[in-house]
Order: sequence, then structure tokens, then C-alpha cells
Amino acid sequence: MAQYIIQGGKKAEGEVTISGSKNAALPIIAATILNAGKTTLYNVPNIHDTQMMFEILKKLGGNVTKKSNKIIIDTNKIDKYEIPEDLMRQMRSSVILAGALLGKHRKAVFSYPGGCDIGTRPIDLHLKAFEKLGINIDQNYGKIACSCDKIVGEKIDLDFPSVGATENAILASCLAEGKTIITNAAREPEIVDLQNFLNKMGAKIKGAGTNKIEVEGVKNLKDVSYNIMPDRIESGTFLCIAAATNGNILLKNVDTEHITPVINKLEETGCELKIQRREIEIVAPKKLKAVDIKTMPYPGFPTDMQSIFATTLTTAKGTSIIVENIFENRYKYTRRIN
Ligand code: UD1
Repeated sequence: MAQYIIQGGKKAEGEVTISGSKNAALPIIAATILNAGKTTLYNVPNIHDTQMMFEILKKLGGNVTKKSNKIIIDTNKIDKYEIPEDLMRQMRSSVILAGALLGKHRKAVFSYPGGCDIGTRPIDLHLKAFEKLGINIDQNYGKIACSCDKIVGEKIDLDFPSVGATENAILASCLAEGKTIITNAAREPEIVDLQNFLNKMGAKIKGAGTNKIEVEGVKNLKDVSYNIMPDRIESGTFLCIAAATNGNILLKNVDTEHITPVINKLEETGCELKIQRREIEIVAPKKLKAVDIKTMPYPGFPTDMQSIFATTLTTAKGTSIIVENIFENRYKYTRRIN
């Protein structure tokens, strides 16, 4: 979209059903490679990143069919292992395909992922995890070629609980020989969704949602259908829209447990939240109170809600201080909003 034209001055009011989670859908789409068969996915958000993943899968030899609210992915004929550079640069999360390609086909070639507005996106933790699993990594002129004869389960201790590196380590070790133990793993709900999906396919993974994940290698996986979890960032965004406009919104298809820190902060600003397991209603006060925020790995306040919450806080009375701890200028970046 080239531009947004916003006519302000109105309250956001009404009801909205939250879409499937982008950050859960992307690794799950990648994980379909491990089965080399047919997977049916429901609740996949229809957004640029998921379309790009489908484009990459097709370039690798896969087939993607859309039928009303379901997507059928056939990875049986995947016979290429190089992620096209132009697509890789468009979408940094395409690095997640490397773990699945390695897990199933023992080879993957890709380039450094594209950056984003927040800054550069290193993948050293992903590569370290692959090396731990005995995968050879050859870096040449920006291309990264990974290969191995077999993958044998190992202990992987991540220097930082990176979401993508945790997911790549799981994907690469699902079909390995023996057990892989990932410690200091990221605990995000999207990793639990990936575990649930893979276990439904026949994988043996436990511990997602905690900082220790154990993957017992299996020989084969099977065709399944799966419903992607609701997007917690979209849920938080609608709550913030209501808060910033003195509005009132009912959100449906929400996992309220996943957005606890956002709910807590909105309550601190003076919003009233009526919470049920799958629904939440927000009623905003006339004027928000200022609050301070520090982003942290899950279950802390999510970095992806930081800029949205900052915008909301521009309407609050008083000074709010926001500290970004996850990305690039982490440990230095503080916003003060008066
Ligand atoms: C995922 C989410 C993204 C979210 C982020 C943090 C997806 C598709 N995206 O991104 O929306 O903002 O988690 O919650 O799920 N890092 C390294 N080396 C690495 C990997 C990461 O230094 O090899 C650093 C990053 O630069 C960043 C921090 O670790 O500072 C966290 O990154 P990570 O958790 O990996 O985020 P992503 O998986 O890329």
C-alpha cells in the first residue's frame, strides 16, 4: 500500500475477530517440508510474508493450493534446496526454511536475510545451533551453504533466547538420530504452536514454553491438518487502538493468556478490560495515565508491541518511559514520551 489516509477524531468501537498469528504461521509453513507430504492449514493470515513463504516453497518444488479458509501445502516434490536470493532478501524470516530443509534433505543454501526498519538481523545463533548438530557451514560471497550426511542429536545452549534460532534448532533436529536438548530456549507461544503442530505430525518434542526443549528424533512424519493460533500482536494492537481513541472494542478469537503484559499495562493506563479465555473487551477512559515499559523476552512485554504502545502513550497524561531491550540498540534505547 502506497499511503494511508487517516481521518482522525473518531473513537474506535465495535467487534473484531483476530487473525491467525504471522509468527506462528511462518515456521509452521516451513515445517511442512519435514513431512514431504500434504498439510492442511487453517487460520493462515493472508499477508505479504505468508505469500512470500508460499512463493519460496513453490520455487523449491512444492505446491500450494488455497481453498476458502484453508491452505493445502504439498512438499512431496521438493527437490531444490536453495532459497532464491531476491525472496530471501524480501523476508528475513525465510531463514526459518533452512532448519526444515536441513532436517529433511540435509542441505540448504541461502543468503543473509534482509534487514528490517529496526536494524540488521544477525543469524549467528542459528548457524551456531546448526554447527552443534554437526552441519557444515560454508560462507562465500554472502551465500551460506549448509550440508551434512546425517544429523545427530546434541545439546544446544543458546547465548540468547532467540525465537528464530530456537525454531530452527527444533526443525533441524526433528528427524535427527537421538535426542537434542535446547537450553536457554525462547519461550514464546509461537514456539509452543510449532511444537503442537510437529507433534501432531508425529514428532516427539516436549518443553516448548519453557527454556528447555527436548526433541527426540523420529524417522517419519505424517499428513495432518492444523489450526494456527491467534495473533497476539494483532490482539494487542486492537486494544491499543481502543485505548488511544477513548474507544470500546470487543476482540474475538484471542488467547488472553498470551497478552498478559499488554493487558496489565493497559489496566495501569486506566483502561477497563473484561477478560474471558477467548474474548476480551476494552473500555478506555477519557484520558490515559502515563506508564513505563521495558521490552523483554516472553513472558515479558513484547518488543513487537513497543512502537504501538508508544503511539498510544502519546495520548496519555504525563511522561512515559519506554526501554527497548531486545533489538539492535538494546541496553541503550530509551524513549521518553511527554
Ligand atoms: C521473532 C519475531 C519478531 C519478534 C522477535 C522478538 C518471527 C517471524 N519474528 O523474530 O516479530 O520481534 O522474535 O520477539 O517470529 N539475534 C542475534 N543473533 C541471531 C538471532 C537473533 O543476535 O542469530 C538477536 C536479534 O538481533 C535480536 C534478538 O536476538 O536483537 C532477538 O531476536 P530473535 O528472537 O531471533 O527474533 P526473530 O526470531 O528474528
